[in-house]
Amino acid sequence: MKIQPFAVEQWMNAYETRCRYNLAETCVESLTLAQLLALAGKRESILDELLPLKLTYGAIEGSDRLRDAVAALYATRARHDVMIAHGAIGANSLVYQALVEPGDHVVAIVPNYQQHYSIPESLGARVQKLPLRAADGFMPDLDALRRMVGPDTRLISLSNPNNPTGALLERRQLEELAAIADAVGAYVVCDEVYRGTTQSGDDLTASMADLYERGISTGSMSKAFSLAGLRLGWVVAPAAVLKSAELHRDYNTISVGMLDDHLAAIALEHSDRILARSRAVVRTNLAAVDRWIAAEPAIEYVRPRAGTTALLKYAAALPSREFCIRLLEQTGVLFTPGSALDMEGYVRIGYANNLHAIEAGLELVSGFLRTVAA
Ligand SMILES: Cc1ncc(COP(=O)(O)O)c(C=O)c1O
Repeated sequence: MKIQPFAVEQWMNAYETRCRYNLAETCVESLTLAQLLALAGKRESILDELLPLKLTYGAIEGSDRLRDAVAALYATRARHDVMIAHGAIGANSLVYQALVEPGDHVVAIVPNYQQHYSIPESLGARVQKLPLRAADGFMPDLDALRRMVGPDTRLISLSNPNNPTGALLERRQLEELAAIADAVGAYVVCDEVYRGTTQSGDDLTASMADLYERGISTGSMSKAFSLAGLRLGWVVAPAAVLKSAELHRDYNTISVGMLDDHLAAIALEHSDRILARSRAVVRTNLAAVDRWIAAEPAIEYVRPRAGTTALLKYAAALPSREFCIRLLEQTGVLFTPGSALDMEGYVRIGYANNLHAIEAGLELVSGFLRTVAA
């Protein structure tokens, strides 16, 4: 099976360990195990739970406790609507393996995490992209979407909140998108790993899986829940889609790690506390980015409404990859080049990591911009 190289992951693999200021990281600053246990009030008692565990494959489909905790993140979904996977990356792969046949028409709202168009393409789909534009605040043009879909459209893919722009579709817009899909009988695959990281409001924003009978939501512990080290994600989908995804899951997953399952369940049972911390991090850190941009004439951006990333438009006559490599070499600051996201002329900042690194790193970026500004 031929597939395009995963540009963002290749960039991160090559440079993530070589930087001093990681402004490419997309997770809300990860929790230590000690922080997680303190937050859940389990520092003293955790070994009593873990030591008796016999390290088998565990519950093949994910423990009931974990699937209940995932289902609780959705207004209308229950345990049997949830399939546990190896990160959202595993969840997304399984969804496309389950849904896409050669010749299918897929509409991908871009930019997005590359899985959402390169996997369908590799499975033989005819992928048409609907680009988000800065002039629209990176919100999708739903009239254009309506014109793109037809009876052969198998699915529409998006991330919400969007990676990399931080744009957010709220309930009304998700409902409109669902109605467009419904008119042609298409599925909507909505990657919601950043759900829970809004800049305003304390409630979880609407999920596609709650709004549409052919709505599929994927999520994980990595981003909003700050626990990427658990490598645990999920699919919430209609029964027929889960059944087909499970067929593939038997071949490439069996089960997720028992310890990951157990710790993820503990974390999700305290999701209120973890998400409150995440909201505090993304809000404090974005305010720091705002202050920097207000004083930095060579950068402009569409302020994100959610998520952990934003696209920065820079005033310098350099391709984004060269910009990022020179920036890294001269200052130790790592961004992600827009070219890895088909967004030339931009760099992506991940602003939900350590605040000190962001403030110190952005100051160095300003110095660098003076040397390359157009
Ligand atoms: C939109 C999106 N989906 C999925 C993933 C993969 O996440 P996970 O760590 O849960 O596999 C990422 C990682 O950057 C992402 O940004």
